[in-house]
Amino acid sequence: MNLILLGAPGAGKGTQAEVICNALHIPAISTGNILREAIKNQTALGMEAKTYMDGGKLVPDEIVINILKERLQQDDCKNGFILDGFPRTVPQAEALDKMNVRIDRVVDIEVADEKIAARLSGRRVCENCGASYHTLYKPSKTEGVCDACGGKTVQRKDDHPDTVKERLRVYHEQTEPLIDYYTKTGKLVVVEGQEEVADTSALTLKAVEA
Ligand code: AP5
Repeated sequence: MNLILLGAPGAGKGTQAEVICNALHIPAISTGNILREAIKNQTALGMEAKTYMDGGKLVPDEIVINILKERLQQDDCKNGFILDGFPRTVPQAEALDKMNVRIDRVVDIEVADEKIAARLSGRRVCENCGASYHTLYKPSKTEGVCDACGGKTVQRKDDHPDTVKERLRVYHEQTEPLIDYYTKTGKLVVVEGQEEVADTSALTLKAVEA
């Protein structure tokens, strides 16, 4: 099964991508994670992407389209994949169509803007392995320490309130039109994001398996 997860920043795409990945045993591909890894490794790509990401802007289409093309050629995508954070613009969706990649379902996780700020201000990620926590909804056992690897958990730079506002503005302007784009294909399913992660997960799995 080839899936796309759509939704605003902080809607829970990454969280649900992990749930689907565990349930269906297909890889979750997050362009955000690939870019953050490039920043961590201080590659030329990372250095270029950082200026956009820190400001809450989208990285140029050409860069992310090339990243995705390469990633989809890897062996682990042969039996399906979950795209988390791609496409993010209509030109990215058109590029995916041109690659002749079959998409079976597009799940749009909807959460009101007002709730997004609280979710993202509480998010903490492990500097070392990238595991994601939330100070209220999913705290690590010891504050500031990753349960999985013992690394330090920190706030993402783009989770600061002013940057979140810009990310939401960019989402409404550039990514939301994809809801129409995929509605026309008949493949879009809307999942209303719930207060409890487990409740959203149940709805997401139902949407994927229906
Ligand atoms: P990316 O990493 O893709 O960030 P994003 O889409 O802004 O999404 P987030 O990771 O912030 O949120 P999420 O929806 O995955 O939510 P999560 O599950 O973590 O992209 C970062 C940047 O990279 C972009 O701004 C852009 O610059 C660049 N980029 C990436 N892809 C690009 C592309 N294709 N084109 C151009 N540029 C690109 O949940 C958030 C928090 O809420 C967590 O703490 C979680 O525990 C909590 N939570 C989740 N579900 C619930 C729930 N049901 N109830 C309560 N809390 C919950």
